[in-house]
Order: sequence, then C-alpha cells, then structure tokens
Amino acid sequence: MYVTIYVDLCFMPPVMDNSSQDSNRSLYRRVSETSAWLEERIEQQPEIALILGSGLGALAGELEDDVTFAYEDIPHFPVSAVEGHAGELVVGDLEGRRVVAMNGRVHYYEGWTLDEVTFPVRVFGMLELDQLLVTNSAGGAHPAFDPGDLMVISDHLNLTGDNPLRGDNDERLGPRFPDMTDAYDSEWREIIHRVGDELGIELEEGVYAGMMGPSYETPAEIQMVQTLGGDAVGMSTVPEVIVANHMGLRVAGISCITNLAAGQGDEALDHAEVEEVANRIRETFIELVRGVVAESP
Ligand code: HPA
Repeated sequence: MYVTIYVDLCFMPPVMDNSSQDSNRSLYRRVSETSAWLEERIEQQPEIALILGSGLGALAGELEDDVTFAYEDIPHFPVSAVEGHAGELVVGDLEGRRVVAMNGRVHYYEGWTLDEVTFPVRVFGMLELDQLLVTNSAGGAHPAFDPGDLMVISDHLNLTGDNPLRGDNDERLGPRFPDMTDAYDSEWREIIHRVGDELGIELEEGVYAGMMGPSYETPAEIQMVQTLGGDAVGMSTVPEVIVANHMGLRVAGISCITNLAAGQGDEALDHAEVEEVANRIRETFIELVRGVVAESP
C-alpha cells in the first residue's frame, strides 16, 4: 500500500534568492519582490533604464552619485556566465538625469528562459520607469553598412522563434496582445538623430533582425534577412523590447555594427573582431548615449 503525502507549497516561507524555487512562484510575485528590494535601497527614483551592450559597459562606471548592485545580490536576477559580461546594476546620475544602467545582460542562447532574459525589464516597468534605451552589437546586413557604423533601430524582426509573452498573460504586467506599431518610439528616434547631428556623429537607421544564436548566421540566412527587410542581425534586444512594450515603456535602441554579416564580406566571422570593433567605437557610442540621455523625452 502506498501513502502519498502532498506538501502545499503555499505554506513554504518565501526564499529571497536566485534558486530553482523561482520556477514555482509567479512572475508577478518575483518582479514585485525584486522591485521592493531595490526600492528600499534606491533613494532617488530613476527615470531612464539603459541596457549596455558589449563595449559600452564602461559607461556604467561614469555615473555619478551612484549605487551599485551585483546581479548575484539582487533577488531573482539572472547572472551571466559569459566572460566579459560583468553583471551589475548601477543607479546614478548621467547628464543630469537619474538613470539605472545594466552593465551586462543574459542571452537566450545561454539557455535562460525568456522570462529570465527579460526579468530586469519587468523590474524597470514595475519601478515605474518610463524609458528604456537598449544598445547592442550587430552584424551589418545592409550592403551600405560598414563595421563601426551606429544604427538607430527603427523596428525589429523577431526571428528567434519564440516570444517572451507566450503562455498565460498576467494583466497586472500588461495586455494579452500589446501593440508593437511604434515599438521603437518615433519621437525618441527623431531626438537621437538630432543629437547625432549636433555631435557630428553619423547615424544609420534600420531594422534589427533578432536571431536566437549562438551560431552566427549562414550567408543564406543573411539573404533571407535582407529579403525580409532586415538591416542588421543580432542575438539580443528583441525579447527585452517586446516586454518593455508590454509594460508600456518607451523604447529606443541603437546598434553598433561590429562586422559585416555572413557572406557580406570576404572574411569569416569572429567574436574577437566583434569585440575589437565594439571597443574601438566605444568613445563615440558613449558620447552619443550621453547626448541621448540628456535630451530624452
Ligand atoms: N550576427 C549575429 N549577432 C551578432 C553579429 C552577427 O553578425 N555581430 C554581432 N552580433
């Protein structure tokens, strides 16, 4: 004879760590816990969230009057294992605005779920920030793009094969079918172009095609992206931007074109080259981001 004992998880005490217990608890509850944890430690409410892509992490160190949290200390925050992706959240002043900057992010290709990848954006939404500026590295699929170009993202193609909003929708976080018509805020995009003009920084504009990765694309896949209207390809950003729109944040995105996409040049793709170009363009990129933050809506 078998006796089955059911343990009701509701009676278990809340655990404030990043353990696998998380999967048993609702996303809303985890986001609320993390927001409350941060709120207790942040004196001044930030206005703008920045996700700093590879090469741009240095900007986090330039914030003034700042408070820094290691991701591993923040309840439920995903912590990247990828080398060179520091994980810290910095709240501070930049160009007279209070911002919260993510130095490092996790990617879908690392094996994280999309709930985990987009968790920080959920927290920004719950903290009632209303603007998110995302930066990334991307391969240039547009024939006129060169390594080192900066591209204002006008729109995206979600080619990851997944969507962070798949599954039950919690109306407290956002609507079931969020509108994505102006996913990259058109007013903010105009501001970025104006700032670029003022600073003498030439800017491209185009559609970012989000891929799952981690393999780079084949030349045939890049041809497909071009046919579909994509100008740049990358392995991040799309999930975060979908969730930011779900939560009603205004979004802007800027890509650093670090390489010609597969088949666009004679060279094989190499992560070291991507990093080298991202580092070479860092100062200009930081100057642009500073200007954009100063002028953001
Ligand atoms: N493809 C995908 N992601 C990238 C690339 C690329 O060519 N360059 C930088 N991130």
